[in-house]
Amino acid sequence: MRVAVIAGDGIGKEVTAEAIKVIAAVGERFGQRFELEQLPWGADYYLQSGVTIPPNGYDLLREFDAIFIGALGDPRVPDNRHARDILLGTRFELDLYVNYRPVKLLDERLCPLKGRGPADVNFVVFRENTEGLYVGVGGRFKPGTDDEVAIQEELNTFKGVHRIVKHAFEFAGAKGLTKVCMADKSNAMTQGHALWQRVFKELAPKYPGITATHYYIDALAMYMVLDPGQFQVIVTNNLFGDIITDLGATFQGGLGMAASGNIHPGKTSMFEPVHGSAPKFAGKNIANPIGAISSAALMLETKGFTREAEAIDKAVLKAVREHQVTADIGGQLGTREAGDYIVNHLHP
Ligand SMILES: NC(=O)c1ccc[n+]([C@@H]2O[C@H](COP(=O)([O-])OP(=O)(O)OC[C@H]3O[C@@H](n4cnc5c(N)ncnc54)[C@H](O)[C@@H]3O)[C@@H](O)[C@H]2O)c1
Repeated sequence: MRVAVIAGDGIGKEVTAEAIKVIAAVGERFGQRFELEQLPWGADYYLQSGVTIPPNGYDLLREFDAIFIGALGDPRVPDNRHARDILLGTRFELDLYVNYRPVKLLDERLCPLKGRGPADVNFVVFRENTEGLYVGVGGRFKPGTDDEVAIQEELNTFKGVHRIVKHAFEFAGAKGLTKVCMADKSNAMTQGHALWQRVFKELAPKYPGITATHYYIDALAMYMVLDPGQFQVIVTNNLFGDIITDLGATFQGGLGMAASGNIHPGKTSMFEPVHGSAPKFAGKNIANPIGAISSAALMLETKGFTREAEAIDKAVLKAVREHQVTADIGGQLGTREAGDYIVNHLHP
């Protein structure tokens, strides 16, 4: 498997180094050859060259079997242009319409919800990744004046909504799960989210073994906190998915723990921790590498390397249970040392 690696900015570089270490080690242990090719794109590259992503950048990425990204965002690039081109650009250009974010608690002590343990927090969120409010349609009229008008349009297409909702049902069916919950705000957003309602109601009867429920997004946020155990699969739009998965990350022990995949089934897909570049933490060897390492496991699982992915997940679980982790989740190790512990506990 050939993987393009974009470490990016800030702690992205440090957690990616650990994820790479783990991928190489698990490959060695299981006799697989994973070719990892580092691409220099990020804030440093942009500030030196003026180039965010080369003109053939997206085509170049398509030639790999998968893409791994650390994080992008740097205070020296206040408009975040490079991040928009590299991260959002790749999501849009490679049509990575499934943003797959598992929310899985590994140890009760990491969960801020009173009395909740791993049995209560184990669900996945499918966030639509190519439409919604993030497509950049809109504009500002008379910016900077008292007459300023700012418009940002939300794009919902039948094709876009249908394929993500269908993916959620298909995933549930394939994994033997029995519940899919769709969240929108169709009571207030009566045009765009009526389409989500229509599609969900049309698709649900095609999956008779799966109970389809619906919550408005505000109610969903409340129920995630009050009773997370009721959820198995949640599907929602780009903005709402972005927000509720940060909430979900807190159930797992914080942003340092959360993994994600940007997927177009059957095509080159991109995997990254949910967190950003945390500039304040950068270069200090304190960032938690587990979100990145678990994203590497998601990548391997998605590409069919199931045993390798399981070995990583088991080593991560052991590190958490044995407190061999970084300070944000109660350990005393640095980023590199936490990565080393996981590498040393990768067993077939
Ligand atoms: N996917 C991405 O690349 C991505 C995602 C979110 C934000 N960003 C960018 O990152 C920059 C910083 O954004 P932000 O501060 O809002 O979000 P952030 O995720 O970088 O950090 C928020 C806070 O979460 C904690 N945190 C995050 N990752 C952690 C880790 N691995 N270990 C321990 N603690 C961790 C820290 O307390 C940190 O201050 C901005 O430029 C933003 O645009 C990038």
